[in-house]
Amino acid sequence: MSHIIIQGGGRLEGALTIQGAKNSVLPILAASILHPGRTTLLGCPHLSDVEASIRILRHLGCRAGWENGALVVDASTIDRWDIPDSMMREMRSSVVFLGAILARMGWAELSHPGGCELGPRPIDLHLTALRQLGAQLREESGCLRCTAQHMEGREIVLSMPSVGATENAMLAACGAEGETVLVNAAREPEIVDLQSYLCGMGCPVRGAGSSTVCIQGRRRTHDVTHTIMPDRIAAATYLAAVAASGGEVELHGVRCGHLSTVTAALHAAGCHIAGGEGRLMLRSEGRLRAVGTVRTAPYPGFPTDAQAVLMAALLRAQGATVFVENIFENRYRHVDELCRMGADISVAGRVAVITGVDALCGARVRCTDLRGGAALLVAGLSAQGETRIDDIFHIQRGYEDPVGDLRALGAEVRMEDG
Ligand code: EPZ
Repeated sequence: MSHIIIQGGGRLEGALTIQGAKNSVLPILAASILHPGRTTLLGCPHLSDVEASIRILRHLGCRAGWENGALVVDASTIDRWDIPDSMMREMRSSVVFLGAILARMGWAELSHPGGCELGPRPIDLHLTALRQLGAQLREESGCLRCTAQHMEGREIVLSMPSVGATENAMLAACGAEGETVLVNAAREPEIVDLQSYLCGMGCPVRGAGSSTVCIQGRRRTHDVTHTIMPDRIAAATYLAAVAASGGEVELHGVRCGHLSTVTAALHAAGCHIAGGEGRLMLRSEGRLRAVGTVRTAPYPGFPTDAQAVLMAALLRAQGATVFVENIFENRYRHVDELCRMGADISVAGRVAVITGVDALCGARVRCTDLRGGAALLVAGLSAQGETRIDDIFHIQRGYEDPVGDLRALGAEVRMEDG
């Protein structure tokens, strides 16, 4: 198994172009089966989660692969509607294929995605929305057996703005007669990117980014080329790394508006931040300040996916910062690993209190999940001495080339096998 070695303590300086967004490309790959033809995705990141999605598409009978740097899917040859348990367990977000498979095939069979390292990951909102569109879903011994010979568009009110449930309902609604109106939809930028892709395919969708999304179903679709939006969480990660280590970074290919709660927190911590068209600059000099209380919330609130990396950036800040994790039940698994590096963090339920320490010391730590692993990178860069990070397969799910990116900023970091 590979691991990452960091010699921490140095300043970071340089420029980075941000990768395409993992949480945009995954639902778009699921949506690609709605069209019996070609989808060409530009700016698609090379991630293990993307490879897992490609394997699912091929299992379903689609052709999928990289062509001249673009990810191309041809869903004209789809001939299956099941996702095997092994593939579901590899990536629980595969549940977003459910709505698209039902819309295209009228049947679907996949195992219940189950929980993950962030805690139980229920899909009750997904299933309720699909049933309201007319799908029959049976849950038998961990398997979902679904039929949807005829789906009818209607108003669907989500009891909470779930990202995945919004995406699943949007894709299923593309196969329903008439108009579907999703009320209390998630407003994340990745939903807007999915809408843009669907419209490019010929499915009229509008309202994404607001709480009400309207989808016109069963329209003629055509080949589509789409450029994946930049990954706002990858951007947040590199901003946090420079904030923690000190230095200056210019990010290219970002949308500053997607990061406003993150940049507001880093500015409150004492960083100088300036943004322009597709560019974002951060400069960090001297010791950071604690930033009071950070509450994670659905977009446009502070993103839960940036909680761990901001926490890591504030471990040596002057004062105490309180985090309240309102989205996931168990999203502090990185805390124990950060404490091994000398961090002072106390957790009680959804609340974590970070008291800044004068210095962190390098240690051997292991990734517990994707963003927790990213937090270990941030902490290791600002710690004195050597940090070894194991189980980096978690990081590789969502970051295309973290070692290369950080080396471009002058970090002493390398990946080793064994
Ligand atoms: C998406 O997960 C993202 N994943 C997550 O990013 C992100 O943290 C999350 O949205 C919130 O922004 C992808 O896009 C692939 P939710 P998702 O449905 O769709 C509960 C990362 O690190 N819930 O908005 O699973 C759920 O348990 C990943 O990139 C129900 O109770 O998020 C959670 O507590 C991690 N019932 C909360 O809602 C449901 O039917 C938010 O879940 C669905 C969700």
